[in-house]
Amino acid sequence: MITHIVGNRPQFIKLAPLYHALAKEGYEQRIIHSGQHYDENMSDVFFEELRIPAPRVNLAAGGGSHAQMTAKIMVGLEEELLTNRPKLLILYGDTNTTLAGAIVAAKLCIPVAHVEAGPRTHDKKNPEECNRIVTDHLSEILFCPDAISLHNLEREGLGQAAYVTGDIMYDTYLSIADGVQQEAQEEIIVMTWHRQENTCSKERMESILHVVERLEGRVVCPLHPRTRKCLAEYGLWEKAEKIANLEIIEPVGYTEMVRLMNRARLILTDSGGLSKESSFAGAKCLFMLELDLWDDLVKDRWMYKFNPQNEESVEGALQFARQAERVALPARPKHYGDGHAAEKMVQKLRERGLI
Ligand code: UD1
Ligand code: UDP
Repeated sequence: MITHIVGNRPQFIKLAPLYHALAKEGYEQRIIHSGQHYDENMSDVFFEELRIPAPRVNLAAGGGSHAQMTAKIMVGLEEELLTNRPKLLILYGDTNTTLAGAIVAAKLCIPVAHVEAGPRTHDKKNPEECNRIVTDHLSEILFCPDAISLHNLEREGLGQAAYVTGDIMYDTYLSIADGVQQEAQEEIIVMTWHRQENTCSKERMESILHVVERLEGRVVCPLHPRTRKCLAEYGLWEKAEKIANLEIIEPVGYTEMVRLMNRARLILTDSGGLSKESSFAGAKCLFMLELDLWDDLVKDRWMYKFNPQNEESVEGALQFARQAERVALPARPKHYGDGHAAEKMVQKLRERGLI
């Protein structure tokens, strides 16, 4: 038995190709949902659209502080893994669900495979950085989305367990993009916004809204529930609604997200996943955090990272935005593999006797 633990929107998107690749080879699998994301449009929609079977168990650990959530997932998961002990536990990305999975499995001596291992922001104030470091060091096998991630792991002495498979999100993107009917529509700027660093203060959120106001063109923003709540809490909701070029919508399913990306000339985001997907979809990326992440895209001048609270940095971002145009497929960056990451993972797991 192979068990996957997932709990967040990006993890459902990463799970789909690997689940299907393992199912094709006849492996018995079990999905555990931590419950970290729980709204219909943050969770169920992805299982339906990406044809992933409903999880066997939901640990209902959404909400609360980092410690409360991580602890709740750990307690529920331990019970599950003791009742149904798998040969391997597969973890995805860098969230509290990932961290909880790594610690529980390691203590039960269950081998862990980490999908999207190796990115490093080199900033321990960034919660995802802490989750990744712990998870990578507790994993038996590490699947890297790009060469920089492998290099990071080698520097930490983990090179022997690590393989560059390419980014599994590219597998998912291609599986949906190939079937999406794309009508000729006006180009837009797509925005997503949810990171702790960008929602933790009124000043920071106001600066981001001010950047949006200064962008030229219509900005479509499927808004994460966390950000909606923080805007309301800081009394900024009305201000956001009044921004003439900003259209706030509910979070969308992945098919609709691909449609939006594929008509974007620019993506304004703080999402780790979407910033990389921008290169799949042909839209340049303005990244609203100055963190080390996907630096090959920065070198290509595909992605521009900025600090919304620093005027000089914002000026650079606005200039980048004015020049951003859609890029045709042959000229898009190719740092994240060939869209067959899941198959490569299955092969490596088999070679290492882990499945
Ligand atoms: C989490 C991850 C982050 C990842 C993001 C993907 C951690 C520490 N953070 O951040 O790395 O980039 O998921 O989206 O694991 N909420 C709802 N409905 C939902 C989900 C969340 O209302 O379905 C609200 C709740 O008020 C919740 C808040 O959003 O307390 C934050 O959710 P949480 O899962 O803690 O963090 P994210 O910002 O989603
Ligand atoms: N996404 C989506 N619907 C939305 C917003 C994002 O399907 O309304 C997708 C996006 O294309 C990417 C993933 O969700 O594949 C990114 O998730 P998120 O930004 O929540 O997390 P992060 O990548 O920062 O961990």
